[in-house]
Formats: sequence, structure tokens, C-alpha cells
Amino acid sequence: MTRLRCDRAPVWHALQSAFDDHGRNFDLRQAFAADPQRFARFSQQAPYVFGDLSKNLLDADTEQLLLRLADQCGLAAYRDAMFAGDAINNTEHRAVWHLLLRTPADAPTASAFEAAELAKVHSTLDAMLAFAEQVRADDAITDIVNIGIGGSDLGPQMAVLALQTFAHPGKRMHFVSNVDGHELAATLAQLDASRTLFLVASKTFTTIETMTNAASAKRWFAAQGGTDIARHFAALTTNVAAAREFGISTSFGFWDWVGGRYSLWSAIGLPLAIAIGAAGFRAFLAGAHAMDTHFRKAPMAANLPVRLGLLDIWYRNFHHFSSRSVAPYHSALRRLPAYLQQLEMESNGKRVDASGATLPFGTAPVPWGESGTNGQHAYFQMLHQGTDVVPVEFVAVKKPRHGLEGHHDLLLANVLAQAQALMQGKADAGGHKHFPGNRPSTLLLLDDLTPAALGALIALQEHRVFVSGALWGINSFDQWGVELGKVLAKDIAQRLHNGDASGLDGSTAGLLQMLRQP
Ligand code: F6P
Repeated sequence: MTRLRCDRAPVWHALQSAFDDHGRNFDLRQAFAADPQRFARFSQQAPYVFGDLSKNLLDADTEQLLLRLADQCGLAAYRDAMFAGDAINNTEHRAVWHLLLRTPADAPTASAFEAAELAKVHSTLDAMLAFAEQVRADDAITDIVNIGIGGSDLGPQMAVLALQTFAHPGKRMHFVSNVDGHELAATLAQLDASRTLFLVASKTFTTIETMTNAASAKRWFAAQGGTDIARHFAALTTNVAAAREFGISTSFGFWDWVGGRYSLWSAIGLPLAIAIGAAGFRAFLAGAHAMDTHFRKAPMAANLPVRLGLLDIWYRNFHHFSSRSVAPYHSALRRLPAYLQQLEMESNGKRVDASGATLPFGTAPVPWGESGTNGQHAYFQMLHQGTDVVPVEFVAVKKPRHGLEGHHDLLLANVLAQAQALMQGKADAGGHKHFPGNRPSTLLLLDDLTPAALGALIALQEHRVFVSGALWGINSFDQWGVELGKVLAKDIAQRLHNGDASGLDGSTAGLLQMLRQP
């Protein structure tokens, strides 16, 4: 597999020329006026997700150049290497194989090794889903507390919320992630130990926040008179031995080839499986698999994750847009921006390429946002009239799952109106009421927010992040940048105890002394 960094591809210079020539001053309003086919040309149906990319600062010639870039960089071979289970996470020498977690048991496999891994995936999935059904049927368990952080929290939390209309009505789901004891204390205050199941979710089973919260939960359980740990605690981890040492005998495992931020499809998805049941979870996996197949098989020019990922390159490296606002017009998707922050920034927030060479261009944009219409009454002012252009990615769902009259039409009217206003603008000589317009947006439209559609939407996002990371030539699958702070926090925790400020910078030393004062 030959992989070429985007700035070393011959077509990179042609892209720069296209940007200088007509990209910088591209006008969306003129583009629509000149091309009645623009909506059709720049929209893409993928499984469960329709993408309208037509309101972006992109013309057909530039998209062709971007597709040539993907070709010259070896995107298809790199994608296939991921699907084949090659160790493309080169700094940790690991495969990136979360796709296998959503591959049907009877799918053809390319090697005996893949067949063996797939068999392990399905036996664990069957066991985990049987456990989920057992918990659902157990009326004595009313509260499920997921203790985990990062990928062991954001995915299940986002998905449980997104699919709340499918959830078992008798199970309350809680998520505790922060080492801040206020979070766990507030959760425990609502619980009855005899009716609670704690899920300790940690790939490594060493993460300090999770281990601290799990230990406190275990102490609380004992203090409430709880003795049956086997019934009230389960672990979701690749480190089953550490879970056993902690005292948990019920474990659901996964493998080192599942990255934390890609682990929602594994045992880490147990809270979702308990909420929506085994059939719902299987539908969620099937939706993701449908998107995997689209990413793998659809021609590059008709491949939604590829088209989105290439647009990300165009915006980040030529327009130099450094963020993207994510605006889900569905309140159940309100944790999507937080989920995407880990997915995109932990994956592509890198300053060196896979060989360790410093990159001469920008990488991960900052995804941020709130659900619509709330964002409109907060920061949309800046999106419409601020000095920086921020591309917006709207997510909307055609069919509501409530019966309240009028609401959904208003919601959908707002999403269309915002995209229209960003693009059209409004001339006003006075200045303050002038909207420059020509501000880009994408709309991702689902027919219905079902388990399968959510699975497809999340897999789409994983793959678009893969595409930009692939072209940037980086390793999107490690996260060394989170390590330094962890080491320093350990050291400072000791110093907070013993007051030793030696060797610290003046600010940290001063603050340490303040925090130690009674
Ligand atoms: O610190 C970052 C990180 O390693 C994430 O990548 C991961 O999702 C999170 O911590 C939690 O890790 P674990 O599941 O091992 O507790």
C-alpha cells in the first residue's frame, strides 16, 4: 500500500491554483443561478443518510481535482487496508478494525484470521445481548449507571439519548464520567443499591477517572448493605484480568484493535443494548454496516463519506476554516457535537504525519455546536455576521416521533431557513443589518431517527474523519496528546498532599499554595 501525503501529490498545486483563481471568490448564489442541476450534482444518497452538499463553496471542477487528490494519495488502498485489518495504527502497531464489530456473522472473510476474529466478535455480541435482555427482563433493576470516560462514555451516552423513543421505559440510564465527585455523588443520591446495576466501562481498565469512580461506587454499594457484586457490577473492557482483580466477575470483552472512540459498537455499547434491546442494537450495527459497504464499494465520486472528507480538506487547507459548527435539528441528537469532538479531534488533532515529520498545513477543524433551534438564539449571530466564516453541518430528521402538532414543521422550517439565510444574506446599506451571505452549509437528512439510521450516521462520520486523516498522511488512530496531562496530574496530586512545590513554575507553585491553604 503506497500512501502519499496530500501536499506531495501532483494535483495539490492545481488545487491551490483553482483556489486562487476562482475558489476564494466563489459565490454560491451565482453558482445556483448558473447551474439548475447544482442541487442534484452536489447531493448524495447514502444508506439512511441523504447529504445535500450543494450549499458549499465548491464547484464541479474543484471536486474533480479533490477526487484526483484522493486517487493520487492512495485513499482506496488505505481504506482497503483498514477493512483488511492491517496494522494501520502504526505508532501502536494495531489494526483499526471496529468495522468488524458490525460485520454480519455470515459475511465472507478474506483470511482465516479474520474469520476467527469475526467469530469472537459474534460470540461476545451474543453474550452481551443476552445479558442486556436479562437486565431488561429483570424488574428489580431500575437504574443502570455507566461509569466510563471519553469513548467509554460519549458514544453510549449520545446514542442512548438519541434513541430514547425506543428505550425500555422501566430503566433509567445514568452516565458518570468526570472524576469530579459532584457528578457521582449527585447520581448516587438518586439510587437504591438493591435496584442498581453499575457498568464499569474502560478499554484499559486503568483510566484514573473511571477507576476512582468505580472504587467509590463499590464502597457506596457496600455501605448501603450491598453484597452481591456479581449481580450489581459488570465490566466492559479489554482488560478482563484487571476487572477480576477489582472484584468484578461479569465481564464483556473487546480487543485492542477497537480504538476507544470507535468502541460504541463493542461491549461499550451495552448501555444502548439495555436501553433499546438486542434487536435494536443489531439494527444499529446493521445501519453502520450498510454505511461501511457504501464507503467500501460506492465509486469515490458518489461516496458520501469521501465527498464530505474531501470538502473538509478543501475548507481546512485552502479556505483555512478552522472550525465547523454541527447543528442537529433534533433535540435527541444534542450530544452529537460532543461525540464528534472526540471522534474528529482525538483522531485528527495531529501536528506530525505518520512518519513523525512536522506537517506544513492545518489538520482537524474544531466541531462544535448545540441542537437547533437553541443555537439560533445563542451563537448564530456570529455565524451570520461574524468576521470568520464557519461552515455549518445541519442534521435533520424528516419524521418526528411525537404527536405534538406544528412543532416539527417549525423545526424543519428553521433548519431550511438558517441554511438559506447563511447563503443568501441580505443587503442593507446601514451595516448593522447587513448579512453578507455566501456562508456555506451542508445538510445531512435522515428519514427517521431509528437505530439503523443512527448507526449509519455515526459510521458516516467515522469514515469522513478517516478520509481527511488519510489524505493528511497522519495516524488518525493514536492519541499521544492526552498522555502528558495525565502524568502531570499524578505528580500534582501528590504535591497537593505534601505541599512540595520544588521545581514547579511560579504559577503552578502559587496556585498549589493557595489550594492548600485552609
Ligand atoms: O485519554 C484518552 C482516552 O484514552 C480515550 O482515547 C479513551 O476513549 C478514554 O481515554 C477512555 O479510556 P478507557 O476506555 O481505557 O478508560
